[in-house]
Amino acid sequence: MFKKVFGVTSTSYSINFTKILKCSSYSRESIEVHSTTKKCIGQPTHYTHPQLLKANEITPMITVKEYQSRRAKLLENISQFCSRKKQVQDFMVIIPSASKKYMSDKIPYVFRQNTEFLYLTGCQEPDSCLVLIKSGYDQFTSVLFVQGKDAHSELWDGPRVCPSTVNEYFGVDQGLPMKELENYLQLNCKTKKDLHLWYDLLSPVQLNVHNAMQNMLKHNKNFLDSPKVFIDQLRLIKSSAEIELMRKSCLIASEAITTTIENSFPGINEHEINAKVDYECRMRGAQYLAYPPVVAGGSRANIIHYITNNQVVGENEMVLMDAGCEYHGYSSDITRTWPIEGRFTKEQEELYEVVLQTQKEVIGLCTNLPPLDSLFDSMCKILGKKLQELGLIPKSLSGTSLLKASYRFCPHHVSHYLGMDVHDTPSITRNIPTRPGMIVTVEPGIYVQDNNEMVPKEYRGIGIRIEDDILITANGPEVLTSSCPKEITDILEISSKKN
Ligand code: GLY
Ligand code: MN
Ligand code: MN
Repeated sequence: MFKKVFGVTSTSYSINFTKILKCSSYSRESIEVHSTTKKCIGQPTHYTHPQLLKANEITPMITVKEYQSRRAKLLENISQFCSRKKQVQDFMVIIPSASKKYMSDKIPYVFRQNTEFLYLTGCQEPDSCLVLIKSGYDQFTSVLFVQGKDAHSELWDGPRVCPSTVNEYFGVDQGLPMKELENYLQLNCKTKKDLHLWYDLLSPVQLNVHNAMQNMLKHNKNFLDSPKVFIDQLRLIKSSAEIELMRKSCLIASEAITTTIENSFPGINEHEINAKVDYECRMRGAQYLAYPPVVAGGSRANIIHYITNNQVVGENEMVLMDAGCEYHGYSSDITRTWPIEGRFTKEQEELYEVVLQTQKEVIGLCTNLPPLDSLFDSMCKILGKKLQELGLIPKSLSGTSLLKASYRFCPHHVSHYLGMDVHDTPSITRNIPTRPGMIVTVEPGIYVQDNNEMVPKEYRGIGIRIEDDILITANGPEVLTSSCPKEITDILEISSKKN
């Protein structure tokens, strides 16, 4: 029963337990034994999943070299920062992995790796830690601490990597057992009194690492800073492999949403739509949805983070669905709104047209590489003017008053960075110009509350958002989610299909 429920099992990764038991941390023999086995660790490898990974890839499409260059770049960037600030030159960067978490008693949640750790290692092991060290003149070292072999744990959770073979899989300089982490950190701090520590003390992701860091800081007076912004700066600009993964994630979600719309009908429950989009994403190769989707019928669309998804969709209602998937660590984020019966009321169509035209104009502006915050200002202006034409905002308003009136109809930003996380690289301000290689969303909306007495009653209760994922290029914006219909004729065609 456990095997069926939790998928990642001994059988799925072909463990040979006899050989695992022989594979202790440091013996030479263990390396030889390992090399002659099927090389099973806690995640797919080229040896276990040749259909998924080439010999030089740690995760699909991302090579050992790319991971090494991410780590090198991070150290270089921190090093340059320290030089500019005339700070201590020797430093250690500590990036914990996520911990295994429990849903109830001994039943684990599906594991999702800490994205910063995944970005820098490709390693899916829970309760591990990456330590990067810079000492002397450009001496860089990477050490990956892992739990190590343990027959009992592996019986329940599947195989783990041996510390002695970590470098073989992940291309780091050294692998060590997690239980040595605290001593290792202490030793480094004692031998180099003015070591600068780069660790995010304010957002702990793993208790063991956090306790070790706190203990260390009791005895050492080191500089301490978060490395977050340096990692986000790297993640902000996607590599060509990452762009390919994002294209695939966006394509899967676009197709899944299209077929979900085609299969919706009056009387369907929001949770059935939720299940359908989840199923269609997974059937196309996504691991799971990138976030709990919003599936909101009727005026529930006006609750921006409506994720209860448990109501019946009535006749004449529209459905607003915000859903995306995660494909080998990369997230898509799409919103579509459609009339459940395949035809709009006059007021629904008018507002849909306003959101659609606003969205297309804002996407067009991406050619000029604007900051996301200025896209937001433009969205408020465009939307405000269009709502004035419809008579929903007084024609007398202009300037800031018009922007404010517009903001009341769309009380969220029009764009965020997108990548491994849905709200990707949040430490990067949205007031810097966009650059080729960034991926961003464009997602204007109009939300008219049921009790909004400033507008005719036919408009009340309508909530609409249209969201696409955009790759910024030197030749203009590329809509990665363009295969998901949004034009009125296309939306009406697919929503009136009776499958
Ligand atoms: N799905 C979350 C967002 O659009 O920001
Ligand atoms: Mn979004
Ligand atoms: Mn979204």
